[in-house]
Amino acid sequence: MRYGIAITALLALGSSADAAAISDRASSGGWGLASILSAFGISVSNDAGKHGPTFSINYNAHGNGVGAWQKAVSHSIPWRNNFQGWSTYKANGVNLGSWLEVEQGNTPNVIPSQYPDEWTFCSAVGKGACGPVLENHYRTWFTTSDIDNFARYGINTIRIPTTYAAWYAVPGSQLYTGNQLAYLRTITNYALSKGMHVIIGLHSLPGGANSLDIGEALGHGNWWYNQTNFDFSMKVVDQVLGFIQTTINPNQITFEPANEPCDDIRNFATPNTISYPNGVNYYNTYLRAVYAKIQKVNRNIPMMISDAFMGASYWAPFWQQGQNIVFDSHFYFFAASGVYSQFVSDITCGQASAAATSFPVFVGEFSIESKYNNTLAARRQIYQSQQYAYAQYLSGSAFWDGKLDVTDRVDGEGTKNDYWSFANLIKDGVVLPGGAINSSFC
Ligand SMILES: *[C@@H]1O[C@H](CO)[C@@H](O)[C@H](O)[C@H]1NC(C)=O
Ligand SMILES: *[C@@H]1O[C@H](CO)[C@@H](O)[C@H](O)[C@H]1NC(C)=O
Ligand SMILES: *[C@@H]1O[C@H](CO)[C@@H](O)[C@H](O)[C@H]1NC(C)=O
Repeated sequence: MRYGIAITALLALGSSADAAAISDRASSGGWGLASILSAFGISVSNDAGKHGPTFSINYNAHGNGVGAWQKAVSHSIPWRNNFQGWSTYKANGVNLGSWLEVEQGNTPNVIPSQYPDEWTFCSAVGKGACGPVLENHYRTWFTTSDIDNFARYGINTIRIPTTYAAWYAVPGSQLYTGNQLAYLRTITNYALSKGMHVIIGLHSLPGGANSLDIGEALGHGNWWYNQTNFDFSMKVVDQVLGFIQTTINPNQITFEPANEPCDDIRNFATPNTISYPNGVNYYNTYLRAVYAKIQKVNRNIPMMISDAFMGASYWAPFWQQGQNIVFDSHFYFFAASGVYSQFVSDITCGQASAAATSFPVFVGEFSIESKYNNTLAARRQIYQSQQYAYAQYLSGSAFWDGKLDVTDRVDGEGTKNDYWSFANLIKDGVVLPGGAINSSFC
């Protein structure tokens, strides 16, 4: 994800009016989902007041960065391929992002630069023309040889974002429905055959989950408070669960039914990413509906809950011990206020433990770009400090992204590829064989 760029583009498109409209709908409250929900025995959630405290990384909380690079602690973590539930698992993961859900900002050579997202591209050139471009990307961007390569570096978990259009052709949607599932099946079964755990995610949702390119299309926020789109989402979820059940090992797959949802883009990546109480109630209604569906299909499939940058602690009170859930928190240091690279390792060590809850927490996305003063030499420590801290205090992590194709310069040394591409980190010796750790700060 590169939401900094997407938000800039969104504001350039003048979509703050859309954001205001979404926010008005949120505060007017109320939507008529009862009939859809009664079909699986749940009702509209109205218990938003039960939420816990928000948690967001406090970038200035720890340390002074002095001498960071001189410190290099080793840890022996035997990354295991024996997932038996998130409460005992330690993920050493990588995302296969910008593959089946293409992000213009991560793979600019797939979607031509005049289009901000797949929706706009396909709508402009027609599906007959965007389809072959996307199919070629699906066929080539990640293949089983990448899985072999990642396995050599200790990767035991892969997280695969998809668009809803991979699963269900929603009428009127300009997202492309093609052979995504064939590619997904090949990679998933291959990774499972290597003993890996696979997380299948819905990045986009019908109508638009967060007004960003990744949520359907830039400026689309109609997933929220929209009965039609809720209904389509349920159909998408049915397809995902059906797919999981026909893989070679359904009990090694986690399902994440939303990614970074946000009902008012002006608050994206803040502790108000989802509005209180209406957004919270709507999101919980959806999650509870998905959870009920999972329980009917296969109770061994964990549901992964995107914390929408509000912290797992905010959402934990809505769930009961024994429910098969895991939270997904995304920690990035490239966008937030003023983080210099030499502070990141120390911050990471201190704050991973503070992100823990009574439910397992997985860091489903992180990168090693800092806002200021990136250095190539510091990458190993910054990568390994996060890899270690997230496994030590939480349920592990998945780096974003497996590959990247962006040569824009970062602040300091190098390009985006040097800080966001796992394949590049392997080539440059930042990531060690077997996922070994010899340069952690903590
Ligand atoms: C629901 O979302 C669709 C777009 O996905 C939009 O056309 C429709 O107007 C929305 N309905 C309501 C009631 O807002
Ligand atoms: C950023 O890096 C430059 C060059 O290495 C260094 O002189 C400067 O002190 C750094 N800034 C901070 C705030 O550490
Ligand atoms: C960590 O291991 C790599 C690869 O063997 C090596 O190049 C590097 O010097 C080691 N770093 C430390 C601090 O031992």
